[in-house]
Amino acid sequence: MQKIDIDSPEAQSANLVAGNIEQLKSLFPELITEGPNGVSVNVDVLKSLVGDQAVTDADEKYGLNWHGKRRARQMALSPSTGTLRPCPEESVDWDSTKNLMIEGENLEVLKLLQKSYCGKVKLIFIDPPYNTGRDFVYPDNFQDNIKNYLELTGQLEGGKKISSNTDASGRFHTDWLNMMYPRLKLAKNMLHSRGAIFISLDDTEVANARSMCDEIFGAENFLASIVWEKVHTRKNSAKTFSISHDYVLAYAKDILQWDRTLLPRDDTSAYQNPDNDPKGPWKPDPVTAHNAYSADYKITKPNGVVLSRPSGRFWAFSEDSINSKIAANEIIWGNGDAYPMIKRYLSEVQDGLVPITIFSRKFAGDTAEAKREIDELFKAQGIFDYPKPCLLIQRLIQISSRPGDIVMDFFSGSGTTGHAVFAQNVIDDGGRRFILVQLPEPLNPDNAEQKAAADYCDKLNRPRKITELTKERLRRAASKIRDENPMFAGDTGFRVFKLDHSNIRAWNPNPADLAASLFDHQDHLLEGRSEGDVLYELLLKLGLDLCVPIERRTIAGCGVHSIGGGVLMACLAEKITREQVESLSQGILDWHKELAPAGETTCVFRDSSFADDVGKTNLTAILAQHGVQNVRSL
Ligand SMILES: C[S@@+](CC[C@H](N)C(=O)[O-])C[C@H]1O[C@@H](n2cnc3c(N)ncnc32)[C@H](O)[C@@H]1O
Repeated sequence: MQKIDIDSPEAQSANLVAGNIEQLKSLFPELITEGPNGVSVNVDVLKSLVGDQAVTDADEKYGLNWHGKRRARQMALSPSTGTLRPCPEESVDWDSTKNLMIEGENLEVLKLLQKSYCGKVKLIFIDPPYNTGRDFVYPDNFQDNIKNYLELTGQLEGGKKISSNTDASGRFHTDWLNMMYPRLKLAKNMLHSRGAIFISLDDTEVANARSMCDEIFGAENFLASIVWEKVHTRKNSAKTFSISHDYVLAYAKDILQWDRTLLPRDDTSAYQNPDNDPKGPWKPDPVTAHNAYSADYKITKPNGVVLSRPSGRFWAFSEDSINSKIAANEIIWGNGDAYPMIKRYLSEVQDGLVPITIFSRKFAGDTAEAKREIDELFKAQGIFDYPKPCLLIQRLIQISSRPGDIVMDFFSGSGTTGHAVFAQNVIDDGGRRFILVQLPEPLNPDNAEQKAAADYCDKLNRPRKITELTKERLRRAASKIRDENPMFAGDTGFRVFKLDHSNIRAWNPNPADLAASLFDHQDHLLEGRSEGDVLYELLLKLGLDLCVPIERRTIAGCGVHSIGGGVLMACLAEKITREQVESLSQGILDWHKELAPAGETTCVFRDSSFADDVGKTNLTAILAQHGVQNVRSL
């Protein structure tokens, strides 16, 4: 039985460096060699492969550069030492929902989710801090980002204070770029090959973000810089312009594969059927167009008038297709020498509208509507400062996702993206799922801007954290949607998980007392962690979906879990006696046979539960004899 310790692959978040090396190897095997630390890439071979097309960071080259960029790149590659702990008591419909609301710092969470959701997310919407000078921009810590997180969010005594990134800091743009770069790198990995990311920004960072995204996603995958009309009122006190819009930058994972979906055609009133045409409602469209088209012919009207192509315009159809429309009576001739019109049938136009790059407030809502939505849900004012309107995100969902897809937002604030997913699913019975990530940012009642939110948490009898409002918003949105749509049977629940240190204790011996260290490390699971904590860490580190079904049975007096229909079987009982070994292994094998999982099964036990090696060896041997070879202990 192999023991899983903090360094085993099963205890790690995705190893992104190894993944990159594998990709290089499949393209250019000659690049891969052995170095002092194992598998390495020979940079000289790489240079010879690209000839004169090589540059180094020291060269003058085109692109966006800032202090700390190299470190930001490494930040994205270093594995996480954390885990996500399940919180069923704060969730809604824990047993049936497939939505996730993760409380934590998004860089760590993105790393932890890599194995399970890499390439699976169809749409990412993020609304990061705009860096207005009043926003807090998360300061990552290369040494121990989990400890840094617990300190910044007030979960460790003597924690650090969260402060805003002011433009007097001298590192104003640098800090923001360093924060965004690794997160966007990981976001790209999460995207489905047909998916896209949408990033909401204002003028402060849009230029930098565009350059950075060109580098990360590839300039060729740029889809649009959407202009969203966020306010319609004019601010006459503005020193220069009164700003009416924000941007939403859109990039596809791969523009050639992007799965664009069309917007619902809300207004079809232009299509009518005054002549009872059997092909249904139609609207008149001109036979000429501005665009140059080589067709050059004459049309003879039933009244004998012969029409040539008008100067400065072109026929919009070939001669053959105009003749077939005439034959099918799909033309409106008009009087005298008027140019005819053709009938464009509603049944023949695309069943939706191509999105345009201006999102008016009528089309996508505005900030006033967003505020109203929150105020109405919470029946209180000023709970959340800058939420987005549901409709804005719903529009993006309509443009870039289909039923059953996963939608993610890792700067989720008040949880608007979750609300928008619920709302869109009601419309098209879509069954889309969401993954939200939000920092449990502390709320200070002495800060005028945070007072209403902090007071609300007090009223809920919950800690003063933004995440309490995110969860409450989702609960309230779900119940509103269910009240307004009693026939809707879709998923309006969510599972809550919280970021924390891994359950597996790091080997951190005290050199002055090695014996005691060894003794302490016998059970290398952290004290106070539940079976559920360990189980979900296994799921994450083995790359399983956090909403995969889990069944529990009692076998030989021990709790055994089957995860994902038997892909993983785990018995985390604290004690397994020699006498229990045979009936336990037999019971697991019977259940495994019943489940008949398609792939290989991993079976996990708690290392310290065996009184001695005999029981452990016997259990491993019995399972192996019957085809379950992959037996591990924790
Ligand atoms: C502009 S707000 C998003 C608002 C959201 N779109 C809505 O409609 O409510 C950005 C959010 O990102 C959160 N945030 C900032 N840094 C974070 C980090 N490193 N990890 C997770 N959340 C973070 C902030 O707490 C803030 O609530």
